[in-house]
Amino acid sequence: MTTAPDARTPSDAALTDRRNFIRFLAASPVLTPSAVSALVGALSAGASSGALAQSYDVLRAPQQKAVDGVITAPEQALNVFDFEPAAKKALPPAHYGYLASGVDGDETLRLNHEAYDDIAIRVRRLIDVRKIDTSVTLFGETFSTPIMLAPVSSQGAFHAEAEAAVARAAKVKGNNFILSTVGSTSIEDVIAERGGPCWYMLYPTDDWSVTEALVKRAEAAGAPAIVLTVDRQGGRNTETLFRFRRDDTRDCKGCHAGGFANEVSRKPMFDDLDVSKVTNLYGTGMTWEFVDRLRKIVKGKLVLKGIVTREDAEIALKHGVDAIIVSNHGGRAEESLEPTIRALPEVVAAVDGKIPVLIDGGIRRGTDVLKALALGATAICIGRPYCWGLAAFGEPGVAAVLAILQREFETIMKQVGATRIAEITKDSVMVRA
Ligand SMILES: Cc1cc2nc3c(=O)[nH]c(=O)nc-3n(C[C@H](O)[C@H](O)[C@H](O)COP(=O)(O)O)c2cc1C
Repeated sequence: MTTAPDARTPSDAALTDRRNFIRFLAASPVLTPSAVSALVGALSAGASSGALAQSYDVLRAPQQKAVDGVITAPEQALNVFDFEPAAKKALPPAHYGYLASGVDGDETLRLNHEAYDDIAIRVRRLIDVRKIDTSVTLFGETFSTPIMLAPVSSQGAFHAEAEAAVARAAKVKGNNFILSTVGSTSIEDVIAERGGPCWYMLYPTDDWSVTEALVKRAEAAGAPAIVLTVDRQGGRNTETLFRFRRDDTRDCKGCHAGGFANEVSRKPMFDDLDVSKVTNLYGTGMTWEFVDRLRKIVKGKLVLKGIVTREDAEIALKHGVDAIIVSNHGGRAEESLEPTIRALPEVVAAVDGKIPVLIDGGIRRGTDVLKALALGATAICIGRPYCWGLAAFGEPGVAAVLAILQREFETIMKQVGATRIAEITKDSVMVRA
């Protein structure tokens, strides 16, 4: 059937306009051939109408100059990396160092992202992908996107509105949010700001009565899942943080006076708790017996965060765990040189579909999200990128990071011909040796 010109739908008209505009660009005497090809590439990449609109907006908008190459507004960001220099500029050196740091030489941190380059994407053609559905269902709750927010402690160190700003941004796009035990905001406030439940990440401490109280409070507030982080038992050497601390002229002792009670005095989840018997938040001597004990008091779902081997995944199944997050704490736990995306397949194979497997570490692009899902993850989490957005611009910064990742993810999802998450399979990628 042919369509008369005067019967064009708005999207047909937009397409024709786009073609004419690209022709105009190509003929333009003021643009070099490489500039034309970059612009055409950017416009053509706009697979979704949102992306396309954004591309045009960039061309039409008044010139907003980045200062010294650093963006000054979230709208200027072309990708999530653009937020890191802006966060660095906004934060005192020690706080930026805390966010940026890995351990030892930061090699695992680096590899977490770089390992995604070893995976190529197998695109498919001639599939109608104008309408796609990015929703995932986890523990009976449907989220509009598989992009979730990993627990990051002390977000008050990055922005005055801390986790409240993050929860508001997460609400807009329906991203799941995991609140850290040592967050700067209470779970009740986060749930109120998000307008829905969030998961609660537990550092249990070495006092069981405190563990119990934290779990009870989180569940009473409405957390459907408790996420036990198991990868911080050995201590760590955060050299990058130590180096940035040297450039910070403030007196850090004002806030970090030492001693557990002092350290958690600005962490609302510990309000009204007797922490006099707690000596340690991390190195608590946890074993699988602890997981059993916790399993008995957790009424909802129990998730283990920090599993990276087939062996531990198999044991986790035997201990009644409901999901695993493959994580090395964003390269902040140990310098293993094992990026999480490389650990994912063995964990997925061990679990054999019995429970969901999530992953975090180094995810910076929509293509990274797709690759992780293709290799068997049910959902993914990001840590630093949303904190860069928070530190640089507060809630709008977080919202922009989430929107960029979502847009990139939808674009590549369409390019592999997937109209829903289940259609992203191992055939969507090719792992290079
Ligand atoms: C500043 C910072 C604080 C973190 N705090 C916690 C925490 O309290 N609990 C936890 O389980 N993981 C914590 N993580 C690890 C994240 O949950 C996540 O595993 C990691 O950031 C993912 O890697 P990415 O930053 O490369 O996205 C923290 C990470 C950063 C960068």
